[in-house]
Amino acid sequence: MSSDLLYIGLMSGTSVDAVDVALVSFPQEKAKVEGFYEHPIPTQVQRDISELCQPGYNEIDRAGELDQVLGELFSEAVLLLLDRQKLSSKDIHAIGSHGQTIRHRPRLQHPFTLQIGNPSVIAYRTGITTVADFRAKDMAAGGQGAPLVPAFHQFQFFDQNKTRVILNVGGIANISLLSSNPKHHLLGFDTGPGNTLMDYWVQTHLNQAYDNDGEWARSGQLNKILLEDFIGHQYFCQSAPKSTGREEFSSSWLKQILSKYENLPEKDIQRTLCELTARSISTAIQQHTNKGDEVLLCGGGAKNSFLVARIASLLSDYALETTDKLGIDVNAVEATAFAWLAYRTMNSLSGNRASVTGADRDLILGGVYPAG
Ligand SMILES: Nc1ncnc2c1ncn2[C@@H]1O[C@H](COP(=O)(O)OP(=O)(O)OP(=O)(O)O)[C@@H](O)[C@H]1O
Ligand SMILES: [Mg+2]
Repeated sequence: MSSDLLYIGLMSGTSVDAVDVALVSFPQEKAKVEGFYEHPIPTQVQRDISELCQPGYNEIDRAGELDQVLGELFSEAVLLLLDRQKLSSKDIHAIGSHGQTIRHRPRLQHPFTLQIGNPSVIAYRTGITTVADFRAKDMAAGGQGAPLVPAFHQFQFFDQNKTRVILNVGGIANISLLSSNPKHHLLGFDTGPGNTLMDYWVQTHLNQAYDNDGEWARSGQLNKILLEDFIGHQYFCQSAPKSTGREEFSSSWLKQILSKYENLPEKDIQRTLCELTARSISTAIQQHTNKGDEVLLCGGGAKNSFLVARIASLLSDYALETTDKLGIDVNAVEATAFAWLAYRTMNSLSGNRASVTGADRDLILGGVYPAG
């Protein structure tokens, strides 16, 4: 293992599928993933998170308690990774913890974003200085607070000889446009739903966490009229900077549209939701790039071969690969980005990109919670 300082990135995304923990060093120009672990989230905690993602009764008590529970769960994940890597807390310079988003409202008169998973608990239980609450400073400066990963994508994957798009398909999908033209600023935004609506539909009707390999979607028929209804969502015509979440692409939005399609087979709806993800992603990429550019896929959606086949077909003029090709496992990219954000903050360096989020300027992000 490299003798450089080690950082840990902690990520629990909108899919609420697992806590991702990456052990990362920064030997030279690039980040190096030294270890990766996915920590399970207990079913009841998954339910509690999902319930808090929609407005409901007694939210302050529920959010307060879950903040503690998640702080403990994130600490457990870190300690297990350390155990597996035969390391101790003293070996780690800092943790970068994204937290669990329970509300993201970038377009209110007083915009806010809320991630929980108490960083004081993490710092206390692990004995490691923890950096958290990365999005708030960007929002304070008029930004969307999201996406934050494009700055890391540029640091890690930029190639001056070709234009690259990094496509992360998590619960929500986001792209980073890494242009080889030095005159072009870094761009990046959420394209819309990634897995979140497909996950909701398969959980509701087949009681499965996700549509493994997209098999259920593959068995259905695409309904083009329904697809156009989905694509009519106002988010798709907004221009960047923009970010979204489960508030906008929610089960209630889906139910409202589906009320006009009562007799449509459930598998056809899954097929059409898969096409919504593929179409909204490919349209966003085509609007900002040229044929022949490279698209590098990461996130859990990269494991859904039917979804990947649909994206590849819609982007047949592009070179589609995964980030595995550049040495970072598709599942580890986001957690690695938060280790990098902690590294940036601990070195008094900026973490956001104003050209991406719309903030006034690049800033040092997050709050630092000292160890011990
Ligand atoms: N074998 C598979 N087949 C189909 N879908 C899969 C498979 N493996 C993972 N997925 C999908 O990937 C999702 C998890 O992806 P990921 O962890 O990247 O999302 P996330 O937690 O929302 O992350 P983030 O918000 O950081 O982008 C699962 O909920 C599921 O929908
Ligand atoms: Mg995840």
